[in-house]
Amino acid sequence: MKTRMTELLEIKHPIMLAGMAFISLPKLVAAVSNAGGIGMLNSVAYTPDQVRKVIRQVKSLTDKPFGVNATLIMPNARENIEVALEEKVPIINYALGKGDWIIKAVHGYGGKVLATVAIEKHARRAEADGADALVVTGHEAAAHGAEVGTMVLVTSIARQTKLPIIAAGGFCDGRGLAAALVLGADGISMGTRFMLTQECEMHQKTKELSLKAKMEDTLCSDKIDGLPGRWLKNPAAIKMAGGRPSPFQALSSALRIKRMIDVPFYKLFLGGLKQRGVQDLACQALGLKGLKVAIENGDLETGVLPMSQAIGLMKDLPTCKELIERTVAEAQEWVEDVRKKMSS
Ligand SMILES: Cc1cc2nc3c(=O)[nH]c(=O)nc-3n(C[C@H](O)[C@H](O)[C@H](O)COP(=O)(O)O)c2cc1C
Repeated sequence: MKTRMTELLEIKHPIMLAGMAFISLPKLVAAVSNAGGIGMLNSVAYTPDQVRKVIRQVKSLTDKPFGVNATLIMPNARENIEVALEEKVPIINYALGKGDWIIKAVHGYGGKVLATVAIEKHARRAEADGADALVVTGHEAAAHGAEVGTMVLVTSIARQTKLPIIAAGGFCDGRGLAAALVLGADGISMGTRFMLTQECEMHQKTKELSLKAKMEDTLCSDKIDGLPGRWLKNPAAIKMAGGRPSPFQALSSALRIKRMIDVPFYKLFLGGLKQRGVQDLACQALGLKGLKVAIENGDLETGVLPMSQAIGLMKDLPTCKELIERTVAEAQEWVEDVRKKMSS
């Protein structure tokens, strides 16, 4: 299948692995790229040295294009992206911040930049800044999204932009890919669906419990990691969504995040100011801790997990190759089916 997304990124299939914290690790990234999609390595929970190491791991596992994802609201984002720029990673995908400096640097070595946006204003800003494509993320998505659902948001942004659009939020199969193309997108990004694949290194117990969830089993809250986001509705998420951390929890969480990503105190403080205050940073630390517990320990009693509404449509744990190939084949069948209906 050839779309503006496959041509821009020089890939076979218009399918992207979303850059998910603790999930989009080298093995999964390489599996998606090797299967003809585009793998996106997450850089959130790393020090700059660790980022270099994981980028080199991906390079050793695939000779296909891949990218690095940066959540710009994190206090360590700039240092980590600078490592990706030094490594001349072919694609950088930024979210939650202004990426003009990234675009300039990446274009300097011939790479491409994808801007993740969840509202129209940010799409316009990213286009003006020179981004090469937009990852337009609707309300169905796991983790951070805004108010508007994928169908309306993608349609609206597709009417306004000249850039290729990668639609995100609620995609997991060929019907979704076909629908995204009809809305005006050039491909899709999937997070939750790739989290539930063989190559994803998430704990088996968390994979199995996730597959039992229905489409109603998610909740939206800005109290879990400090930003509005969608999470699996499990006991820990319900509890965390019920209130903000106390000053004591704020301090100990801020220290925990400092240890995890090894940033100086002043950066941590600036990070807090960039958000809505130090308590948001504390939420973020608690969210990251809960995420690590769910993903690495298989603990969904105390752990939390971002989760798409599309979870209700997922029934299996395919390999990335199986998933990508069946998604493309199903999309082609659906489009053919619609063509027949429309011409009858
Ligand atoms: C476990 C998990 C962790 C995530 N971590 C991040 C992250 O660190 N940064 C980010 O920009 N998005 C993150 N996301 C959101 C995805 O990048 C993507 O926007 C979302 O999964 C798309 O919606 P879908 O799950 O319906 O496919 C995460 C999603 C999941 C499921």
